[in-house]
Amino acid sequence: MSLGEDPHSRSQRFRRSIRSASLRKERFSHSSRSLLDIESLSDSDIHSLLKEAGRFKISPRKSPLVRRHVALLFYEASTRTRCSFELAAKSLGASTTLVSATASSIEKGESLVDTGATLAAMGAECIVIRHPSSGAPHVLARHLTIPIVNAGDGMHEHPSQALLDCYTILQHRRTLDGLRLLLVGDIFHSRVARSNALLLTRLRAQVTFCGPPALLPDIAETIAPGVRITRDFDAALPGADVIMMLRVQKERLSGLQLSVDDYIRDYQLTSERLALAPADVLVMHPGPMVRGMELTSEVADSARSLVLEQVRNGVSVRRAILLRALGGHT
Ligand code: CP
Repeated sequence: MSLGEDPHSRSQRFRRSIRSASLRKERFSHSSRSLLDIESLSDSDIHSLLKEAGRFKISPRKSPLVRRHVALLFYEASTRTRCSFELAAKSLGASTTLVSATASSIEKGESLVDTGATLAAMGAECIVIRHPSSGAPHVLARHLTIPIVNAGDGMHEHPSQALLDCYTILQHRRTLDGLRLLLVGDIFHSRVARSNALLLTRLRAQVTFCGPPALLPDIAETIAPGVRITRDFDAALPGADVIMMLRVQKERLSGLQLSVDDYIRDYQLTSERLALAPADVLVMHPGPMVRGMELTSEVADSARSLVLEQVRNGVSVRRAILLRALGGHT
């Protein structure tokens, strides 16, 4: 993708990416046990998943998914999502198999649908998929009858990340209703920002995106009802209950009218900036973090940081997602 294009083209591409994934969704009805995106979840689904994640953490029972099979189909690199789905599946008694884009017949040109059908024919009862193209999980769900779980698709959504973020916030705050969340950084490329904005606004949180126009086009305000945009990080900090920092890849800034130094000056979360926020503010990051870019190590490792708690909660939330997909009960 070209990052040197003008803001209008970028906005159009952003809109197209979101719209094409939405259109793909409208044309079929997938297994109700799939998790394709936040938009497809009912309020009851959301509450059940969050409740089940908490229930399992408090009272783990043995092996509700014994002799069940989960395939992990990863076309993109992942540490947290892949490992936590694997650990979640195994902790429930299921077996897992990993297929990655390298070292599989995907390298020989096998299509997404053929790969999915092959896994299903071998006995996979659920496929967890990460793919660089928006809508890839929806394509798989249209062709297969087993549940499909979206582990991140292009610039579209990362629903399990949003659910675990929400779950983590609720470990620290009684409700999301009225909570003020500030999402900072590369919103343009972030499926985490999109899923979080959709989920958090559904739960009546106030979501504000913060970043420079090159990484946060004005159209991002239309992602979910009530989302606001600000360019001024320092001014937004006193009104934030939760700060969610997003990864900024240095290579993505090349070609934009934005230098790394300018980005760090205006948007890096430092201890000095953190002091502008309320004393009990929560600092989150979906990972992987680029220390020294979007935040300093001091902040990443501070008492306010929930980064490793998010990772830990990811296993609980993904257990709930797999139980829903495979019809197991704790
Ligand atoms: N947050 C997240 O998706 O991390 P991974 O890319 O390591 O899975």
